[in-house]
Amino acid sequence: MCGITGYIGDNKKTTEILIDGLKRLEYRGYDSCGIAAVDAKSALYLKRASGRVDVLAKLVAEEPARGPQAGVGHTRWATHGAPSEDNAHPHTDCASQLVVVHNGIIENYLDLKEKLLAAGHKFKSETDTEVIAHVLEDKLKSLHVQEKAIRSDMLEPVFFEAFRRTLADLKGSFALSVIWAKCPSMVLGARLHSPLVVGLGKGENFIASDVSAFLKHTKRVIFMNDGEIAAVKKDSVDFYTFQGKKVAKESVTIQWDSTMAEKGGYKHFMLKEIHEQAEAVENTLRGRLLPMGGDILNAEMGLTAAAMKAFASVQFVACGTAYHACLVGRVLFENFGVHAGADVASEFTDRARLLDKHTLVVAISQSGETADTLFAVREARAAGAKVLSITNTVGSTLTRESDHVLYTHCGPEIGVASTKAFLGQLAAIYLLAGHFAAARGRMDAGDARKYAEDLLKIPRLIEETLEQEKEIARIAEGFAASEHFLFISRHVNYPIALEGALKIKEISYVHAEGYPAGEMKHGPIAIIYKGMPLLAVAPSGRALDLMAGNIEEAKARGADVVAIVDEASRKTVRASRYITLPKTSELLTPLLTVIPLQLFAYYVALAKKCDIDKPRNLAKSVTVR
Ligand code: M6R
Repeated sequence: MCGITGYIGDNKKTTEILIDGLKRLEYRGYDSCGIAAVDAKSALYLKRASGRVDVLAKLVAEEPARGPQAGVGHTRWATHGAPSEDNAHPHTDCASQLVVVHNGIIENYLDLKEKLLAAGHKFKSETDTEVIAHVLEDKLKSLHVQEKAIRSDMLEPVFFEAFRRTLADLKGSFALSVIWAKCPSMVLGARLHSPLVVGLGKGENFIASDVSAFLKHTKRVIFMNDGEIAAVKKDSVDFYTFQGKKVAKESVTIQWDSTMAEKGGYKHFMLKEIHEQAEAVENTLRGRLLPMGGDILNAEMGLTAAAMKAFASVQFVACGTAYHACLVGRVLFENFGVHAGADVASEFTDRARLLDKHTLVVAISQSGETADTLFAVREARAAGAKVLSITNTVGSTLTRESDHVLYTHCGPEIGVASTKAFLGQLAAIYLLAGHFAAARGRMDAGDARKYAEDLLKIPRLIEETLEQEKEIARIAEGFAASEHFLFISRHVNYPIALEGALKIKEISYVHAEGYPAGEMKHGPIAIIYKGMPLLAVAPSGRALDLMAGNIEEAKARGADVVAIVDEASRKTVRASRYITLPKTSELLTPLLTVIPLQLFAYYVALAKKCDIDKPRNLAKSVTVR
């Protein structure tokens, strides 16, 4: 939540680079934004705006900064204090010399604020962040900094030490980027439970919440760990612990291209990403399937077949769409004879405490930065469980806090509504389930070959499914005025009904429910009214006959049923409209059935003229609990 960016280097480009970085980070929050920059003569430039980065860009263009060399920027997703210009970051101290941008929550800010107010500090916002600037102001004073008297060669060490001491007073989670007008030669950053990454350029360096902010300028990056400070200067970057001890860190080269994160001719990132799903699945499966890719995947994850055999159970944990992937995982693992559970991360604490080394926790997260998922992982590891994370983000916090990692290879996902990342997560789960089944003797070489063959056909079948986009758009447009939607299914497709409902809620702001079809008659069927749209996911398989019955029950009460079927199941199901998918094996159907529901949600939102890539109240990466 919230995107932060910082830059130091060529004085002609600072504000331009900060604004461009913020545009790329806007998916993290977009209720307000701001930048601050300082020039070599210590003049501070500060601009903030309520609303989107475009508004800020206009303000900056109207009144450009004169020769700034270091700066920070922020795009906000409000936690403390309403979305407004006053609460927009950057925040400053009493003298407007110290400038702070922050992602996270300062849990003890009320305590700190009370003391600061008593000491005479004046606050300009309702945010938790502003206290940081004032604490820093006090720390500088306590180091006896007389603004005029301080020697220029002492500015950097004094600024660093005051910042380090400030961090010791903060409780909660934070990624921070800070500048001091008196010391334009250095941007400081620190991280604790919120992501922060440094980009290494030539004669310029960057710091940001994620690499997309500066990928256009450099692919050489250093991921910061919790408890680390970065001192970013024009020609060097040094890292320290919060105790002030220097840390040596390695850089890595990011493979993503910045154009990979752009829209490529589609109207929205979400639509582009829906169309990238065949590729996401193909890339995630490539070279890793049994029987040939078995050792490759085991080595990648650092998980042997013997270890897979030894676990008594597998426990999935995640949030939102990734949680729906977990539910598919649970069905698959149980189908292969492995005890499995799936929980939303924010409700996992008590269960986590009951775990031990016999359970493998599988944590799924596109970003690898979701706070609830990270806390669930920490609880599980503290209880003695091993953690395997499935994520799309190399170097994310989750990967560094897990015992084993299985990467999805989906490329950057920008749309707030997750689509291709979900397909990538499913592909990874199918890989993992196959490996577990083989390790535990539930799949022989012949079964493994068939399973691999079926999975390898999926990318082509996804493309075939996407060919129905126009028809799906037509059906969706017909329902654009509806205020309520129901999604039902059973067994391995029940999570897909949940995902269909989540997608339409997120981007169209309508009421939608996903239900296990068999549960409808225990209550929810009462809400059906004449003409209510009901999307029923009913491919061939063990659940089909019961599904057909549940659809009849809904129709009898007036539901207008759109059935997601294949050629064979279409003969069993009676609906007013059909979306017919290519045939695959029963367990793999979620990899196809979710696609029409994503497109359906997209086209309802488009007809309603909603802001599809930046839905209200949401952020791409939820780094607060
Ligand atoms: O980055 P993560 O996969 O951990 O994110 C989890 C959820 O916040 C995310 O899936 C969210 O539900 C999406 N907006 C769904 O489209």
